[in-house]
Amino acid sequence: MNTATDGPQAAERLECRTIPPARPVSTLEEDALAGLVNSRPRSLPPKYFYDARGSDLFDRICDTPEYYPTRVEDALLRRHAAHIVDTVHPFHIVELGAGTSRKTRRLFDACAAAGCRSVYAPFDVCREVMLEHGQGLVADYDWLTVNALVGDYHAGLDHLPAFAETTLYVFLGGTIGNFSHDEAVAFLTDLAARMKPADRLLLGADRFKDPARLHAAYNDAAGVTAAFNLNLLNVLNRELEADFDPAAFAHHACFNPFKRRIEMYLASLRPQQVHLGRLEHVIEFDEGEAILTEISRKFTYPALVALLEESGLAVLTPYEADGGDYSLILAGRG
Ligand code: SAH
Ligand code: TRP
Repeated sequence: MNTATDGPQAAERLECRTIPPARPVSTLEEDALAGLVNSRPRSLPPKYFYDARGSDLFDRICDTPEYYPTRVEDALLRRHAAHIVDTVHPFHIVELGAGTSRKTRRLFDACAAAGCRSVYAPFDVCREVMLEHGQGLVADYDWLTVNALVGDYHAGLDHLPAFAETTLYVFLGGTIGNFSHDEAVAFLTDLAARMKPADRLLLGADRFKDPARLHAAYNDAAGVTAAFNLNLLNVLNRELEADFDPAAFAHHACFNPFKRRIEMYLASLRPQQVHLGRLEHVIEFDEGEAILTEISRKFTYPALVALLEESGLAVLTPYEADGGDYSLILAGRG
């Protein structure tokens, strides 16, 4: 029922727009030329995982028994959302790499309980996933406005809307671990430069732990992570008019103890040629030759504090899972 006293209807509370890059970003053609044709080991940036199917597969990874980070981070958010909302009183919640916004609902629940009617701006490369889940959010929270922003966070944050009111930036899922150290510092420094004194960053990061648990989290028995990794080849086939045979590659993920990171590869099962139609290039794979598709760094607590400090941010409240499995950190400008 919608009477004169009700707020705007759900559809009126959801909008979506594209954020232009603040600095030039390479195209898939350029990334494929640099990473697949002209360098060894071959590699690609992880953002190409997330077409509609990739985003759906990532969501299913989060439900596998082996992938603990989603559950642990969700539990931390459930436990501490009220404290976060009470201390920050955010007028805007801006989430970087928001995906399905599943765990962010804990913050909206806390906002509802505290009567804090924040406006939510999820920012992600995948328009489809934000629109689909944005509809669910405006339906489930009748006070919430969702302004979805489509763009690439490595292209700079200058063109994100600048808000006069207190803003809570949210960066969950351990995605900071998918950045190299230099990328992480550049990204967090860019973010810190936009933050007003009362603005806060809520950062979720996975911690270093028993390598066997780390290994299992990226090698689930049902093969969802393998399907997610291999889906990258479908993206390349579609976008580059390439002819990768996904059955001729294998998912390979392992923990590198020297770099304290998971490394994810697609390994060629046999010697083979692949045509990259749009690039007019043929690439040759040796048997076992692999494409590095993702890194996922695992942090010690001191390394996280140091990363934030190097980026001009300071820890205000660390929320830690039992056993130190995962860290949620509320930070402000240093
Ligand atoms: N925050 C969610 C999703 C994490 S997966 C969670 O915690 O479960 C990483 C998300 O970042 C995906 O939704 C993906 O589409 C998005 N993403 C990846 N690269 C990106 C980029 N360069 N710019 C913006 N979003 C990106
Ligand atoms: N941010 C997630 C992580 O590093 C991304 C992720 C989870 C992922 N599983 C994956 C990326 C499998 C590629 C492949 O934990």
